[in-house]
Amino acid sequence: MDSILQDGFGRSIDYLRMSVTDRCDFRCVYCMAEDMTFLPRQQVLELEELYRLAALFVGNGVKKIRLTGGEPLVRQGIVGLCEKIAVLPGLRELVMTSNGSQLVRMAQPLADAGVKRLNISLDSLDPARFRAITRTGDLAQVLAGIDAAVAAGFARIKLNTVVMQGRNAAEVLDLVDYAVNRGLDISFIEEMPLGDVGRSRGESYCSSDWVRERIAERYSLLDSTEQSGGPASYVRLKDFPESRIGFISPHSHNFCASCNRLRLTVEGRLLLCLGHEHSIDLRTLLRRYPETNQPLLSAIQVGLLHKPMRHEFSLDGEVQVLRFMNASGG
Ligand code: 5AD
Ligand code: SF4
Repeated sequence: MDSILQDGFGRSIDYLRMSVTDRCDFRCVYCMAEDMTFLPRQQVLELEELYRLAALFVGNGVKKIRLTGGEPLVRQGIVGLCEKIAVLPGLRELVMTSNGSQLVRMAQPLADAGVKRLNISLDSLDPARFRAITRTGDLAQVLAGIDAAVAAGFARIKLNTVVMQGRNAAEVLDLVDYAVNRGLDISFIEEMPLGDVGRSRGESYCSSDWVRERIAERYSLLDSTEQSGGPASYVRLKDFPESRIGFISPHSHNFCASCNRLRLTVEGRLLLCLGHEHSIDLRTLLRRYPETNQPLLSAIQVGLLHKPMRHEFSLDGEVQVLRFMNASGG
């Protein structure tokens, strides 16, 4: 079935990213301020409410759901939620983005629960730098988590690296080596200006073209025509055909024209675009109408007509979006 969720530009929505918690055991410099206040419990959707929305979206044409955070694996009951979402009729795949800190314990239960693929954040292979970027993270624990995920047999594992000049830009090749030697994918991401993290992002800006040139110094790149339907563009390496190297370039290559996605914050606000504040409050409707989904569906369809054509991120240091990434559904 084609998605009956269409925006004002005729784009069909078949991908939903759901944040299941705003909490995280890390405080990555590009994502959070050092001191964060997290949401009080009653403002956060219950697991049943998350499931109800997942079912509603899948029933109306969404084919892929990504669970994100914060760190989704710090939410109690997450495995049970995955089990229920994974078997919704019409869903093609349930996937997750994680920081890897809990994967030693959680990788196998997640795979067993029907999570098909994982994206795991990895910004450095140097323990001290990893700690500096994540503020609280332990590299060894995350690397062990990645090993556990490989052993658990996910269909694909992709690493995500936010590249920042003066922090981890010199590690691009080491990270590529690490990924391709394990047959993993890796995407390099230009930092997006979400939330006031206390510094201008322009200072550390590192373009995808720059990253690609560094990789080309060691590897023969094959341009790939593969399109994920998403914001990444991919290349493959001649000598490591298994791995895809992705570039997510919100600044240098605008990818909005083919946008197929919506985001749900953990407070139940449906975000139409990562780069805009406009959102639809689904939590109020969920709680006001426990027995019927029609008001929710109508609100979503009307809201979709306001989905903007594109984001307007810039690097001039101005914070255009006040939400932090951890509240946005990754
Ligand atoms: N810019 C770009 N990517 C970000 N992420 C979080 N904050 C930002 C940001 N400001 C991405 C990272 C992280 C994932 C959870 O979200 O890739 O790994
Ligand atoms: Fe946590 Fe991910 Fe944000 Fe880092 S980027 S603080 S791991 S939610």
